[in-house]
Amino acid sequence: MFSRDTLHLWILAGALALVGVGFFTVRSLTIPPSFGQFGHFRGAALETAANKERKLTTRGDCTACHDTLKHEMGKSHERVHCIECHGDGKAHMTSCKDAKAAAKPGVALTCDKTDLMPTNIKDICLHCHQDTIGRAKKHPQIKFDEHMKDNDPKDPKSPMVCMQCHIPHDPDPSNEPDGAKEDKDDEAKPAEAATPTAAPAAATPAVGGAE
Ligand code: HEC
Ligand code: HEC
Ligand code: HEC
Ligand code: HEC
Repeated sequence: MFSRDTLHLWILAGALALVGVGFFTVRSLTIPPSFGQFGHFRGAALETAANKERKLTTRGDCTACHDTLKHEMGKSHERVHCIECHGDGKAHMTSCKDAKAAAKPGVALTCDKTDLMPTNIKDICLHCHQDTIGRAKKHPQIKFDEHMKDNDPKDPKSPMVCMQCHIPHDPDPSNEPDGAKEDKDDEAKPAEAATPTAAPAAATPAVGGAE
């Protein structure tokens, strides 16, 4: 019953062959040339992605002009990106670059400085330092209320409160700015909350030491 008319089979085979040839033709016309170069994706996509305009500034963008020594970036924050506290700074950067290009020797550059200075540093600091479940234990963390109680700042409600005792570029507690708490220090905090970093590398000397 199958071999009654082989012509039908030949027609079927021919149709299938056509479909096959069609498939491979369409495929070769539509698949981008770099497909499969590295894996099951378009190899040239890497370059396309790498060439996209960057949305955020990098630390290197800022340090191209700002010497971290001069700004006394201490050891503990030396890796914290400028953007975290100063915002993206893109307008500033563009404006400084333009100013630099047009600069006359000996004349200090002036450029756009809007929004560069944080106005609520407390929130920024706590974003990284509020004691949080799941945060690596070795990362320095505080419970805000306890920290305020322990250290008793002059103005605990201020949005800049952390700066009463910590220098943002070099927040090592042994490095506190003038004033604040001095007298409270000796009261030896009840050694609660197992302090994991007992002796943080013997107080990194402040770099530069400039006035
Ligand atoms: C943890 C937050 C934080 C980080 C990170 C940070 N800054 Fe700052 N920076 C501040 C604050 C707050 C001030 C204002 C200090 C003051 O008023 O005493 C400041 C001040 C400055 C100033 C003006 C005063 C000065 O030192 O000349 C410059 C310039 C500056 N920062 C650049 C940078 C650059 C560049 C980076 C990255 C390499 C950076 N900052 C990283 C918080 C930060
Ligand atoms: C092309 C050089 C250049 C680049 C890049 C640059 N800055 Fe600046 N920055 C300057 C100069 C110059 C000043 C001082 C300008 C003035 O006083 O008018 C300044 C001042 C500042 C200040 C002090 C503002 C104040 O109110 O006193 C901060 C903070 C700062 N820059 C942060 C940054 C950050 C963050 C970046 C990276 C996103 C950055 N800068 C990139 C040149 C640069
Ligand atoms: C983007 C995250 C980030 C922000 C924002 C940030 N820090 Fe930190 N801070 C860190 C990291 C990470 C370390 C620990 C670095 C290490 O130990 O290598 C650190 C360390 C510290 C330490 C311990 C320093 C020492 O030497 O023992 C203090 C205190 C501190 N930060 C205070 C502050 C204050 C105050 C602010 C706000 C002005 C702030 N931090 C903002 C990430 C941050
Ligand atoms: C009145 C002074 C004072 C104020 C205000 C203050 N601190 Fe501290 N901070 C200290 C002292 C002193 C230490 C070191 C002893 C300790 O851990 O309590 C310290 C330690 C730290 C540490 C390191 C903790 C560790 O386990 O290594 C971090 C992080 C920190 N502070 C963040 C902050 C942040 C964020 C703010 C603002 C919300 C802030 N501090 C406000 C005095 C202060």
